[in-house]
Amino acid sequence: MMAVIVTGTIALWPRSLPESQSLPADPSPVTFAPLRPAAAFATIADRKARSVALFTEAGRVIQHPRCVNCHPRTDRPTQTDAMRPHRPLVTRGTDGGGVATLRCSTCHHDANFTPSGVPGNPKWKLAPVEMAWQGKTLGQICRQILDPARAHMTRAQLLHHMTQDELVGWAWHPGGERTPAPGTQAQFGALIAAWLDTGGQCPA
Ligand code: HEC
Ligand code: HEC
Repeated sequence: MMAVIVTGTIALWPRSLPESQSLPADPSPVTFAPLRPAAAFATIADRKARSVALFTEAGRVIQHPRCVNCHPRTDRPTQTDAMRPHRPLVTRGTDGGGVATLRCSTCHHDANFTPSGVPGNPKWKLAPVEMAWQGKTLGQICRQILDPARAHMTRAQLLHHMTQDELVGWAWHPGGERTPAPGTQAQFGALIAAWLDTGGQCPA
């Protein structure tokens, strides 16, 4: 099991992290593992500090280009690990699924399309602008997703979405040459569950 994780990680190393994320100085198999499991944080005695540490680890997924490309602060998605503006120019339209004359579904079908490399999912559309993450710190994203005044999702819905949603799950199976989000959706879901269990504390 360990050997599998380590091999996969080494294979991804040269392009697994965008420049915007810091690389560990000495990528030993431990620091370099895709995503630390929730159990790895059990030794942090202080509940609040443990909660922040859990969310910080989950943030390696949340702030990954596979997620952020669909949570832009403008009306235009971004693409690739460099998160460059989507080509061609497309905008969210009224429902996030594109304008009437150029729907996302014109190109993005129900599944990744191998010959062209276009990613796909039945629910493919942009996250609403009030759920924008691009350009925000992890602490800001954390407060935003929990803020009851914004009323996006209850904590139970948030947990379900992170753990079960198939569009979120696409980030681990992105097709083409894309770098998957670190770890697995189940590991990520366990981090989110443990974070909420410890009071859902946010990084500064
Ligand atoms: C004319 C075809 C076309 C339309 C319409 C289109 N896309 Fe794309 N999209 C592509 C192609 C091709 C790629 C892959 C580019 C690449 O990876 O280099 C892509 C990639 C993406 C990515 C990047 C995935 C990643 O993480 O690298 C996102 C996000 C995206 N599209 C969202 C959208 C959304 C949202 C819409 C509708 C508002 C949309 N696209 C409409 C062709 C299209
Ligand atoms: C193809 C576009 C797309 C991708 C990729 C994507 N999302 Fe989203 N996200 C959405 C849409 C659309 C919504 C709005 C909720 C809905 O319609 O289900 C959303 C909403 C959310 C929300 C709710 C935010 C709030 O403020 O309530 C969370 C949390 C979330 N996404 C997590 C993720 C994570 C984590 C990833 C990557 C692992 C991800 N998303 C990747 C499109 C995307």
